[in-house]
Amino acid sequence: MVKLTIRRQDGNTIWYETFEVEERPGMTVLEALFQIQEKQDGSLCFRYSCRGAVCGSCAMLINRKPGLACRTQLSDARTEVVHDPESENVSLKHDSKDEDKEGILVEPLPNLQVIRDLIVDMDHFFRLVDSIGPWLGVPEDAGNEQTLMEPALQMQIEKYTNCILCATCHGSCPAAERDGEYLGPAALAKAWRFFIDPRNDEEDVGKLLSDIDSHEGVWGCDVVYRCVAVCPKKVPPTTAIIKLREKIKER
Ligand code: FES
Repeated sequence: MVKLTIRRQDGNTIWYETFEVEERPGMTVLEALFQIQEKQDGSLCFRYSCRGAVCGSCAMLINRKPGLACRTQLSDARTEVVHDPESENVSLKHDSKDEDKEGILVEPLPNLQVIRDLIVDMDHFFRLVDSIGPWLGVPEDAGNEQTLMEPALQMQIEKYTNCILCATCHGSCPAAERDGEYLGPAALAKAWRFFIDPRNDEEDVGKLLSDIDSHEGVWGCDVVYRCVAVCPKKVPPTTAIIKLREKIKER
């Protein structure tokens, strides 16, 4: 058995609740949530779709670290969760003995508004990502000629197009926590993806750089690499931000 301590929220009421789950080999946090919903509490709310680390819907805080519930196995996440029901104070014991590691703490993704239990409102995150624009500014006189791209450059671009918009980076970002208007790691990684794409129009590239040349843009980043550490698809937003800063300085 494994104990899942889950942060619940209904309106302004917030509480933590611990459920015991029958563990099967290879069982994920998402499967444990299903078991709780089916057998113990049908009102538990969480979001999911693909169940295979593709859609990014099941991002949440697992033992205070953003991650995908469908990709995190219970056996890898076991720890000791200390919950004081009087104060609703919950903490993790990092120096606990193996026999005490029988729990997992599950909370909603930070820096986004909670709708209910583990479901957060993604609108704000998508608005920030949208502000970069999901298009290439191909020049008007580009014609129908193919733009050949070196395989090495294509691989560079792919590093960033692998983003599944799960918002784990946003949930781990201290700058996003401080400033709700900070564009954040996902949007800035996308800006770099368009910056290095040779099909993009020069004028658009210039506008892109001036749009992110602000404290809400690249200069807001603390460069602590938390977004890189939590990304389930190994997208490196901090690297993109550092490179964008260099390009802005060059101009
Ligand atoms: S359910 Fe799609 S990423 Fe987890």
